[in-house]
Amino acid sequence: MIAWELGGQGIETLVQLERPDPEPHRGQVLVRVRAVSLNYRDLIFARSGAPAPIIPASDGAGIVVALGPGVTRWHPGDRVVANFFQTWVDGAWHSRYGASALGGAIDGMLAELVVLEEDALVQIPEGWSFEEAATLPCAGVTAWNALYGDKVVRPGDLVVTQGTGGVSIFALQLAVAAGAEVAATSSSDHKLGAIAELGANVRVNYRSTPDWAQEVRTRAGRGADHVVEVTGQLNDSLRVAAPNGTVVVIGTTLGVEGGMVEVRLREIREKCATIRGVYVGPTAMLSDLVRAMAVAGTRPVIDSIFPFDNVVDAYQALLRADHIGKIVIGISSSD
Ligand SMILES: NC(=O)c1ccc[n+]([C@@H]2O[C@H](COP(=O)([O-])OP(=O)(O)OC[C@H]3O[C@@H](n4cnc5c(N)ncnc54)[C@H](OP(=O)(O)O)[C@@H]3O)[C@@H](O)[C@H]2O)c1
Repeated sequence: MIAWELGGQGIETLVQLERPDPEPHRGQVLVRVRAVSLNYRDLIFARSGAPAPIIPASDGAGIVVALGPGVTRWHPGDRVVANFFQTWVDGAWHSRYGASALGGAIDGMLAELVVLEEDALVQIPEGWSFEEAATLPCAGVTAWNALYGDKVVRPGDLVVTQGTGGVSIFALQLAVAAGAEVAATSSSDHKLGAIAELGANVRVNYRSTPDWAQEVRTRAGRGADHVVEVTGQLNDSLRVAAPNGTVVVIGTTLGVEGGMVEVRLREIREKCATIRGVYVGPTAMLSDLVRAMAVAGTRPVIDSIFPFDNVVDAYQALLRADHIGKIVIGISSSD
């Protein structure tokens, strides 16, 4: 099979090569990958470097082509999407699941064939493309976990999202589908215009308005019940939060140096705010997300699709950050 490997530090160490076809063992399924989506995590991983050559990317969707012994849930021909953590099926997070993160701890999805755990797969909704399904595992599940993993988003809540990348656009869409009001930020007026159509009715350019937190409060006329925090700007997020609001800490470096901030503890106490960390989520959440989006008719926002031979261009597009939503790589079937 053909696969991409990250051989060292930097996007330039990505190479396409041949690897032996993998074989499914007990409880595993062989999947022909048809689409992969990239996440900011893939840039972080490429920047920090792989200790040994590894197939990158956590997010992919494809067709079941063979079953290992004992597999009962799937059949050849089934269209599936894989969960980010192969061993976190349901329940609360435990650090042991970290060793099963695709495209990080173990080989990921940027290959024609992958072996996956049968309990880490979810059926793709009827009528969805592989490209759409491949956007869900990291960004989609993280947004779902942020809004449904603990304090559940309710109709009428105010949800704040930051920027127009994968996680934030999913959070915006899920919040709108839940009947919440969304206040979104972006560095670009053009992007803010585009996300108005997705239902973000308060929109603030954080570049031209550095005090975006105050601007959101003023324009919304209230504080946020949920802040989907993907940048590390915890003090701004606490400021925009309403009394009893929740700040969900997802990304820790986009807006701050080295992921370090001094936090005004008094603001947390006086607001009775909750600060909650999220690390993607279990297969059960991927399943809930798929069901909710299918029923609501909400489709993933795909910015662009690159061919399998142009993976480096896809990484560079993600690095430029001109995208809204997700950058996807399509893999045509050789069958
Ligand atoms: N904890 C977890 O489980 C988890 C899961 C997924 C992602 N993450 C983290 O969440 C973050 C987003 O990931 P992603 O894959 O969604 O990224 P992405 O698709 O690459 O999107 C990044 C976007 O963030 C926005 N941005 C950059 N700097 C910003 C700032 N200072 N303030 C507000 N927005 C800013 C930009 O949007 P505009 O161009 O519109 O300004 C940029 O396009 C990353 O840090 C990632 O590592 C964590």
